[in-house]
Amino acid sequence: MKIISVVGARPNFMKIAPFIKIISHHNKSAEIKIEHMLVHTGQHYDDRMSKTFFTALNIPNADINLGIGSGSHAEQVGYTMIAFEKVLIDEKPDWVIVLGDVNATLACSVAAKKLHIKVCHIEAGLRSGDERMPEEINRLVTDRLSDLLLTPDELSTENLKNEGILESKIEFVGNIMIDTLESNIVKASNLVANEIIKDNIIKEQKSNDLNIFNSPTSHFNLMTMHRPSNVDKKEILEPIIRLLLDEISLDIPIIWPIHPRTQNKLQQFGLWDEVILNDKLILLNPLGYHEMLKLNTRAKIMLTDSGGLQEECTVLGTPCLTLRWNTERPITLRKNGGASVLVGNSISRIREEYKYTLQLKRTPDRPKLWDGKTALRVLEAILKATK
Ligand code: UD1
Repeated sequence: MKIISVVGARPNFMKIAPFIKIISHHNKSAEIKIEHMLVHTGQHYDDRMSKTFFTALNIPNADINLGIGSGSHAEQVGYTMIAFEKVLIDEKPDWVIVLGDVNATLACSVAAKKLHIKVCHIEAGLRSGDERMPEEINRLVTDRLSDLLLTPDELSTENLKNEGILESKIEFVGNIMIDTLESNIVKASNLVANEIIKDNIIKEQKSNDLNIFNSPTSHFNLMTMHRPSNVDKKEILEPIIRLLLDEISLDIPIIWPIHPRTQNKLQQFGLWDEVILNDKLILLNPLGYHEMLKLNTRAKIMLTDSGGLQEECTVLGTPCLTLRWNTERPITLRKNGGASVLVGNSISRIREEYKYTLQLKRTPDRPKLWDGKTALRVLEAILKATK
């Protein structure tokens, strides 16, 4: 059996690592070996957004890199489809495995389906209900086309059933990203927060005494933000930056590994100089997997618009303010047992929830089948669906 797995952007890398590992394990003893190829569309190309994760998570180099790079959505999806179709025609796989909700997920599922190649979607069924989010469109199209839909939680299974997807195509397998968290938490815990900060701080930034982060009791908040809805408009981004600079960071310093898109926007809007000169808002380059995990275990509060971090915060118990109005991952919300609360980009709401959240303790939660064994269930489901 031949499988092609596709990755394109940062959040895919931590999801593919356990799957590749389980295939190697399977091939050691199984009668029918799996021939596996990894295709990287090249949507994320900076070392810090891509290569670092391959190295840290022992992901073998991609067999093929389509070199798509940055561009508009139609450009990324269109160029990926054209390039991936050629790979499919040459390689003739039995299955194409797509993950999550990035542009590669959409483009490669459409290209495969049009060539009558079976598609398996890992992390199927998530819905934010917000079709202004590019990822929601990617999720809807991919799930509509997929032959095997592997869900991370039962709410996602329900979403798919409600959309009329045949039950026989759906399998609840759990959250594969938690497999990666489980197998890397010890290594991450052994890192030193202060060193991570020193090694990754953006050079231009003046910083006072970073040694304060040496102490295991020193507090910091952790922040990430890259969604177009938060960073693409100055009238939305600027008030958030003001709140961080003038209020929250005065209280507890904020460590912010910054996404290239957000850095570009801050520069474009003339906000970069003030941010970079501030020594309570500590900007880092994008971090590696273990480094981010370590800081997450130490953060007082996470402020983020990332989906994956909402999930990691749930398992680690880090109280999380989700800078979005909706989430495709409701299982991560406090009201459902998780660690996060939706605050959108309303300044008053962020301020209010921040004050409330400061009083909360870490309360780790384990949604069903977020047990570190999802990759095995993924492979079993694929093997079953192949018979
Ligand atoms: C993509 C995903 C998003 C995911 C995010 C994680 C889609 C639709 N979006 O968004 O779901 O949460 O990845 O990071 O697929 N850039 C670089 N270097 C890189 C990559 C990007 O500098 O290696 C800059 C470019 O200016 C680019 C911008 O970041 O235009 C945005 O990158 P892009 O890949 O279009 O989307 P993300 O915002 O990263």
